Amino acid sequence: MALHHKEIAVAVAAIACSFAVHAEDVVRIGHVAPLTGAIAHLGKDSENGARLAIEEINAQGLMIGGKRITVQLDAQDDAGDPRTATQVAQKLVDDKVAGVVGHLNSGTSIPASRIYKDAGIVEISQAATNPAYTQQGFNTTYRVVATDAQQGPALAIYAGKSLGVRTVAIVDDSTAYGQGLANEFEKAAKVAGLRVVSRDATNDKAIDFRAIATKIKGENPDAILYGGMDATGGPFAKQARQLGLRAKILGGDGVCSADLPKLAGAAADNVVCSEAGMALEKMPGGAAFARKYEARFHQPLQVYAPFAYDAVYIIVDAMKRANSTDPAKVVAAMPSADYKGVIGETSFTAQGDLRHGAISVFSYKDGKKILLDVVQM
Ligand code: ALA
Repeated sequence: MALHHKEIAVAVAAIACSFAVHAEDVVRIGHVAPLTGAIAHLGKDSENGARLAIEEINAQGLMIGGKRITVQLDAQDDAGDPRTATQVAQKLVDDKVAGVVGHLNSGTSIPASRIYKDAGIVEISQAATNPAYTQQGFNTTYRVVATDAQQGPALAIYAGKSLGVRTVAIVDDSTAYGQGLANEFEKAAKVAGLRVVSRDATNDKAIDFRAIATKIKGENPDAILYGGMDATGGPFAKQARQLGLRAKILGGDGVCSADLPKLAGAAADNVVCSEAGMALEKMPGGAAFARKYEARFHQPLQVYAPFAYDAVYIIVDAMKRANSTDPAKVVAAMPSADYKGVIGETSFTAQGDLRHGAISVFSYKDGKKILLDVVQM
């Protein structure tokens, strides 16, 4: 059936009108993490958490300033690379996002934070633990995890008290995270009376750790702190075991993933690692969240999904309290955030750190992550 000119004009006008109304009522929230490269599985996990929150918020219906708002996820990949991170941050600024959940790594979150600060857009990192991230005096910079100034000591104290470790070697991946965690651990280890026998550096793209592991074997430490992510920490643990090292491998949140046993093989059973937050099994809504996540994405949760999920809700909560989606008003509402979510109750220090953090310590048995201890901050 042919349409008359008039009918077409009416139809076009209606479509244009619906676009105009629609465009006004869509608010974008950015999410940034590595979606390519060796830790893409961690980035995807975090993105899934953010996506789940946004799907729920849209399904419930969000009203801000008397208008119905649809939230759109602006999902970006920084490949875990500091330079790419600043380009992606600029893209999110150009996209006029209301806030950003990201970045995942300290090495990307820190350089990106200046761009969000200059643009007046809130950045909540779901995972960055280097203390320096929030020490820049930016009113836009937040995180929903504890810091390595808490994680380093928790690991050192646990190693000394519960594992009977007296001597320790330290290896880091030369990133802001790995090096920072190693520094914090080293300071705390000395205070705790552990003897640090050596310090070595690799990088976050390395695949062969046999030279460092062989050297450390000669030093015969009780434990090795590995500052880095699971993509290198797993193979490091595996190769150390193959070379006959008996030392426990200690790691931070970056190695403490569901995938570690895939990356370390049987040597995962030799790893003790921490998360810079409450263990999922102890989070108020942890079990329900894990079920929801697995039903939606058909894969196990790695580490950061609940943190990214709550970070989205914290941005939306700030919008509600500000009764506005204007980034400047969202920034202004952030200091008074007090949000009860999956990861617990989140409120922030003046600097943008968690007021009440926790560090959880885990080991692995037969490929499964097992909670050993929780230290409340
Ligand atoms: N905690 C890790 C970092 O800060 C993910 O890079």
